[in-house]
Amino acid sequence: MLDEAMRFFDDHGALTQPGDQERYATDWSRDLTGTAKVVVRPRTSADVAAIVRHCAQQGLPVVPQGGHTGLVGGATPSKDGTEVVISLERLNRVREIDPLNFTMTVEAGCVLEAVQAAAASADCLFPLKIGAQGSCQIGGNIASNAGGVNVVRYGMMRDLILGLEVVMPDGQVWNGLKKLRKNNTGYDLKQLFLGSEGTLGIVTAACLKLFPKPTQIETAFLAVASPTHAVTLFGRARRDLADLLSAFEILPRHGIELSLAAVPGQRDPLATASPYYVLMEASASGLVDVRALVERFLEGAIEEDLITDGTLAATSAQSAAFWQIREGIIEAQAQHGRHLRTDVSIPISRVARFLDDTHAALARTEPNAVSLAYGHLGDGNIHFNVLPPAGLDEADRVAMLYRCEATIFAEVDAAEGSISAEHGIGSVKRRAFLARTPAMDIDLMRRIKSAIDPGGTMSPRRIFE
Ligand code: LAC
Ligand code: ZN
Repeated sequence: MLDEAMRFFDDHGALTQPGDQERYATDWSRDLTGTAKVVVRPRTSADVAAIVRHCAQQGLPVVPQGGHTGLVGGATPSKDGTEVVISLERLNRVREIDPLNFTMTVEAGCVLEAVQAAAASADCLFPLKIGAQGSCQIGGNIASNAGGVNVVRYGMMRDLILGLEVVMPDGQVWNGLKKLRKNNTGYDLKQLFLGSEGTLGIVTAACLKLFPKPTQIETAFLAVASPTHAVTLFGRARRDLADLLSAFEILPRHGIELSLAAVPGQRDPLATASPYYVLMEASASGLVDVRALVERFLEGAIEEDLITDGTLAATSAQSAAFWQIREGIIEAQAQHGRHLRTDVSIPISRVARFLDDTHAALARTEPNAVSLAYGHLGDGNIHFNVLPPAGLDEADRVAMLYRCEATIFAEVDAAEGSISAEHGIGSVKRRAFLARTPAMDIDLMRRIKSAIDPGGTMSPRRIFE
């Protein structure tokens, strides 16, 4: 690179030593590793803008990074060492909390857990809840349109944003930081950046929607005989619980066993094993009696033979322990090394058949692989994952995982589902996405991409080829 171009980055606090850059070269999964040309960590939106403007002038590709918890390689620099990594981690101020407007304005590098805590300190709830919340950053949650366990009640990140501040690919700062719940003036520009995976600009700040902080939370761990029972139970829960249902997860027995084995100190919540479980939560603020609603719902579910056993968390520590078992499945899978993670979605009414068909298809084609389907049944988003058998070398492992992915995605197509409900496309799902997306959709997306990023410098080769 030109010395002059490099000097600019030095002046902006670039990390240039190879050891310093390691943290920015991969992500939590460690599936992919790249090499950054340089890593910069600006402290202000103006600094981000200056860096992006410089990169645009020099024709340098740029990749924004948050907390390295993405699952599709969207923020990992390419292997060729050409991409400038812009980490938002130092841009982490809470700019404002407005409890009466139920909003807060935060910078992109705020860690999700810190955002949740700041909202709670104002007696509010920021409802995005995901396993990675201790390290993921709000800017990454926005760029990837994060989902998680509370989508059934509060929606995706897309539904939780009122305004954005974005550094555009040419270095201009777009100020769309409105705090309005209703605004019908022209196109909803902020939505373009939600789920754009760094391809259209760099989110530097956001105005988030807040909700009343629940004063009652009931967490239930229930045994169900099959996915069909779980789906029927879900329909009943939404109705019986006055629409106060905030999470509804399905977990297979094998997932619980993996989690119990992988994370020490956990206890099986129920005495006897069941093929499937539901982990659900109902919550509210105000005078409604959530406990009574949940108890009545459970009595009805027992009468209808929808559940065979169950327990309600008696304390918040017990509730946290139930959630720990669920999140431990992710840890357990990671301990098995490279595996297939999917985040497909299916109409809820068709999930049970999809699970049966897909398990059967994989048992036929890859009898040695262990398939594991769990996740957000309440919004139809299932993590249909596969652990390859031990002893395969890396190339055979990867080849098997691709075959399993093709089998799963064929079932998703048959069920008119989506191959990515929450993790996005990044570089990992690109081919599968392009192969099944209608030409007109791709054309519209490409036209948006080239209108906003004509130089093609923003996260190149993510989403598109
Ligand atoms: C989950 C993440 C990985 O729900 O999406 O487990
Ligand atoms: Zn998920």
